[in-house]
Amino acid sequence: MMKIIGENGMLKDQLPQVNVALPGPKTQALKERRNKANPSAIRCIYPIAMKRAQGAIIEDLDGNLLLDWIGGVGVLNIGHCHPEVVEAVKEQSEKYFHGMFNIVSHEGYVALAEKLNEIVPVKGSEKKTFFANSGAEADENAIKLARSYTKRSNIIVFSGAFHGRTFLTMSMTSKKAYARGLGPLPGGIFRADYPYLYRAEKEMNEAEMLAYYKQKIEKVFEEASPANEVAAIVLEPLQGEGGFIPAPIAWVKMLRELCDKEGILLIADEVQTGFGRTGRMFASNYWAEAGAYPDIITTAKSIAGGVPLSAITARTEIVEASPAGTIGGTYGGNALACAAALKVIEVMERDNLAERAQEIGATVTERYTKWMSNNPYIGDVRGLGAMIGIEFVKDKATKEPYPEMVNYLIEECIAHGLMIENAGTYGNVVRFLAPLVITDAQLEAGLSIMEAAIEKFTNK
Ligand SMILES: Cc1ncc(COP(=O)(O)O)c(C=O)c1O
Repeated sequence: MMKIIGENGMLKDQLPQVNVALPGPKTQALKERRNKANPSAIRCIYPIAMKRAQGAIIEDLDGNLLLDWIGGVGVLNIGHCHPEVVEAVKEQSEKYFHGMFNIVSHEGYVALAEKLNEIVPVKGSEKKTFFANSGAEADENAIKLARSYTKRSNIIVFSGAFHGRTFLTMSMTSKKAYARGLGPLPGGIFRADYPYLYRAEKEMNEAEMLAYYKQKIEKVFEEASPANEVAAIVLEPLQGEGGFIPAPIAWVKMLRELCDKEGILLIADEVQTGFGRTGRMFASNYWAEAGAYPDIITTAKSIAGGVPLSAITARTEIVEASPAGTIGGTYGGNALACAAALKVIEVMERDNLAERAQEIGATVTERYTKWMSNNPYIGDVRGLGAMIGIEFVKDKATKEPYPEMVNYLIEECIAHGLMIENAGTYGNVVRFLAPLVITDAQLEAGLSIMEAAIEKFTNK
C-alpha cells in the first residue's frame, strides 16, 4: 500500500519505503533524458531521481522513500533541507544574492570567516579565512598559501589520497583512473605511503609503525624532493575515497614533528571529515587534543548544507604571505552560501551534532563488528564518529578485495530503499555518511536492510 505523505507531512521522519520498483516510470524517463543530454563520464548507478528531500530521506519522482546513507558524499551532515538553513537562505535571497568580495564587502563573508577563525583548530592564535566554491579549489588555494609562505614548490601527498578533479588536485589524487588520458599533470607532487594498517605489509606495533612510515617519507626526501624544497605535506585525517581509513594520531604527531624540523607546513584536507562527521566539529580537533595542530585546514562539503562553498583557514602570517591578486575568485564566499554556512554551524553547535555522530557511530560500529565476527567476507570495520567503513574481502587470510559483493549490496540495498556507496582503491568498502539528523528508527531500518543484503549474498 502506498503511503501518502500530506503537504505538511514530515518527510524527514519517514522510514524507507519502495512502492514502485526502481527505477519507476518518471525516474526512468528522466534517466533517458539525462543519458541524451549529459555526459556518461559523470557516472550514476543509482536508479533515483529526486522530487524532494528532508533529513535523511529522499522522495523520488515516483513516490518512493529512500534512506540516504551517502548524503551527497558527505555534504549533508545537517540533513537535506534543514528548515532553519532553508529559512536563512530565503532571508538572504531577499537582500542580495551576490557581492563579489573583490568589489564590495558583505557581512556574511566576514562573519563566517570570524566564526571559522574561532573554531577551526589550526596552529596559531591569530587566524584568517577565505572562501572558494569546491573542495578541490580549497586544496589548490592551500597549496598557493604554502608555496607563498615557504617559498618552496614541492608537495608531499599520500597513497590512497583524494583531493579533487582540477589539474593540480588530480595530480595530488592517488587513483589515476580519475585522470585517465588527461596528462601531463602538474609536477612537484610526490607521494608517500599512508598508514592503511589493514593492508600493511606486516603486523607492527606503534613504534614499528611510526618508524616504517617515517622512513617512507624520508625516502621521498632522498629520492624525489629534498626536505628543504617541500612546502607542505597534505593529508586527509580520515581518507574518504581511499577507503575510510583513519590516520593514527601517533602518525600525525610524527608528521607534525617532521614538519616542524624541516620547515614544512602540515595541511589537513577536511573536505569530507569536517563539520561534525567524525564526532568532533573537525577531525583535526583530535589532533589538537594530542598537541599536533595542522597549519592549514581546508573545508567544504557539509560547511553549507548543500550550497557550494569551501574555506581555507590558517594563521595570519601564512595567509598574509600571499601577494595581492593571487587568491580569490568571482563566487567564493557567495552571500547565499555564507548565510547557509552560518546557520549550519549555529545549528550543529546548538544541537550537538558532533556528539550525535559519536552515538550513531557507536551503534553502527557495534553492529558492523558483530557482522564481522560471523561473516567470512567482512575483513575490517574502522572509522571515527559517524564516518565508518566496512571492508569486504573474498578471504580473510588473503584479504583479496571483494568489490563484486559491494556492488551486489548496493543494488540489493537500494531495491529495499537504502542508499549506500562504495569507496576504496579496490571499490570493496561501503562508506557510512548518513546525515547526522537521521532518527534512531531510520538508522535501525537501514542496518536491517544492509544486514539482510549481506546475509542474502553470503547464503547464495
Ligand atoms: C578529502 C577530499 N578532498 C577534496 C575533495 C574534492 O571536493 P570537490 O568535489 O568539492 O572539489 C573531496 C571530494 O570528495 C574529498 O573527499
